[in-house]
Amino acid sequence: MTNTREITLTVNGTERSTEVEPRRLLVHAIREDLDLTGTHIGCDTGNCGACTVLVDGEPIKSCLMFAAQADGSEVMTVEGMEDLPESDGLHPLQEGFHEEHGLQCGYCTPGMLMAGKALLDENPDPDEAEIREAISGNLCRCTGYQNIVKSIEYAADKLAAQPAADGGTVAIDGDAGPAAAGSAADGPEPFEGYEVDGEFTCGAENCCGGPATDAEHTGGDNV
Ligand code: FES
Ligand code: FES
Repeated sequence: MTNTREITLTVNGTERSTEVEPRRLLVHAIREDLDLTGTHIGCDTGNCGACTVLVDGEPIKSCLMFAAQADGSEVMTVEGMEDLPESDGLHPLQEGFHEEHGLQCGYCTPGMLMAGKALLDENPDPDEAEIREAISGNLCRCTGYQNIVKSIEYAADKLAAQPAADGGTVAIDGDAGPAAAGSAADGPEPFEGYEVDGEFTCGAENCCGGPATDAEHTGGDNV
C-alpha cells in the first residue's frame, strides 16, 4: 500500500493541494503534480540551481527538499513573476534577461531569475560581487555569466526607478538607465520641481531631496 499524504501549498498566490509520497521531491511535485514546468531539473542533486524556487521568500533548490516539508508554505516559481506588482507584462528581471542577452539556451534561466529575485528582495542595490555571490549556486553552460550579471543590474536599476509602494519617493538615477531611457519618450510629462532656500524639493511630504535639477527628474515617474 502506498503511503501518501495531502499537502497544501500556496503557489504563486493560489492555494494548491496534492497527494504526495513522503519521498517525493518538491521539484517533482511542482513540475508533475502541479504542472508548473518552468522550474527545471538539471542535476537532481543540488548542484546546478536550475530547480530554484522561493519557499517563504527564501531561494531553495527544490530538488533538495521533500514536498511534504513544504506543506503549508508559500512557494513562488518563475511562472508567478509576471503577476507581481512590479511587473509590467514581464518582471524587470525577465526584461533584463531579454534586454541584456542573459540567456542562450535558457535552461538555467528560471533558476537564475529566482536567485536574482531573492537577491533584489533583500538587497535592492547589489554590486557585481554581491550578484555573483547570489548566483554562485546556479550553473550556466552557455553565457559566461557576464550578461546574467548585467541582466540583474538592469532589473535593480529598473526597480529603483519605479514608484515606491507607498506612493512616496522615487529613486531616480541621474544616469539614463533603462527605465529612464524608456520613460523619457513615452512616460509622464517632465517633472518640474522647485527650490526653497537653495534646496531642491519636489513638493512631496517625504521628498528625498534630490536629484538636484529638473532635468534629472525627467527620468522616472513623479511622486
Ligand atoms: S536540479 Fe536541483 S540543483 Fe540541479
Ligand atoms: S543559458 Fe544555457 S545553461 Fe544558461
